[in-house]
Amino acid sequence: MSTSARPRFRSARTAEFTESVIRDMTRQAIAAGAVNLAQGFPDFPAPEWLKTAAAEAIAADHNQYPITWGIPPLRQAIADKTRRHYGLEIDPAREITVVCGATEGMAAVLLALVDPGDEVIVFEPYYENYHPDLQLCGATRRLVTLRAPDWGFDAEELRRAFSAKTKAIIINSPNNPTGRVFNRAELTLIAELCQEYDALCITDEIYEHILYDGAEHIPMMTLPGMRERSVLVNSCSKTYSVTGWRVGWVLASPDLTDGIRKVHDFLTVGAATPLQYAAVAALQAPDTYYAELGNHYDWRRRKLEGYLTTAGFRCFTPRGAYYTMTDISAFGFSDDTAFVQHLIHNVGLAGVPGSSFFSRPELGHNFVRFCFCKKAETLDAAGERLAKLQ
Ligand SMILES: Cc1ncc(COP(=O)(O)O)c(C=O)c1O
Repeated sequence: MSTSARPRFRSARTAEFTESVIRDMTRQAIAAGAVNLAQGFPDFPAPEWLKTAAAEAIAADHNQYPITWGIPPLRQAIADKTRRHYGLEIDPAREITVVCGATEGMAAVLLALVDPGDEVIVFEPYYENYHPDLQLCGATRRLVTLRAPDWGFDAEELRRAFSAKTKAIIINSPNNPTGRVFNRAELTLIAELCQEYDALCITDEIYEHILYDGAEHIPMMTLPGMRERSVLVNSCSKTYSVTGWRVGWVLASPDLTDGIRKVHDFLTVGAATPLQYAAVAALQAPDTYYAELGNHYDWRRRKLEGYLTTAGFRCFTPRGAYYTMTDISAFGFSDDTAFVQHLIHNVGLAGVPGSSFFSRPELGHNFVRFCFCKKAETLDAAGERLAKLQ
């Protein structure tokens, strides 16, 4: 939309924002009584011990503004967990910002570090929030394609995306929507390019513990030369099944953290105080918790893939996160959106049209994404509906 066609009083910066397709699919699923495998939130209860910790924090009257960048015990728990799992030493006093979920974390990071006119490299298909975040910053997006069936990228295409204008690259591994987990060779290439072009690497690691088939999560920050030029965004949402709590964190060197904390302060003041206290309990979970989480989702991944394959979808089996990307070519629909409308209104099942994860819709016309972070009954209900497709 051109600036002159902009609705009265709307800022140029937000005039081109589109509605979130994922949340729109959820609304349509509810209205149509369809099984919702569109939006990635669990429909099973959060862990009992975690809910108790949250209730106890409110009862203990942890109910006023927190220190803007996070209560000290939570920053300490984040530092301890990061050391335990990855051997990384993070200074809780100067290198951690507790934020309102990875969503606010990513926005605060980009607003603090990216100037209008800077270029930021993003892999596509991508998680839908990165684009509006970059629009808010006035940054230019440079895209590098992840290609089916394994959703790898072409090294030359990546190299061509870097230039003197590159401020940062965003990587999301394990990846939403493809389930791709970047391996050490891929991360090393990205790290080398960041160093060659003096760029930052901003990593969305929200699915770090949801891994399958022996896949390993490697934080970019652990690679040689990347400690100071990586910014790590993470949250409680997916790992602890509390997407509504809105508690996340950003790890970055002290200089970068100083800027990120200021943006975070002015945007939100802070994440909910009692939920920060409960998040301390979450981050202190034993290692068995994470192994069980992986098994819990692996079982669901296989179950949904079974139903989808039987119904005629081609599944791109994910190695991480909790989504299955599928190819819908076998169904003969003109595009992914028409197919999802058919699914919602005639079959009773919602997914997300693949085009919503691409810069140009035609790139995603053969794909639909389904999530499997659901109860067995929900997945079975999806299986029953899918049987109608045959
Ligand atoms: C890749 C990715 N990043 C961030 C988010 C949102 O995270 P949060 O709930 O912590 O804001 C999601 C949610 O689906 C996601 O898939």
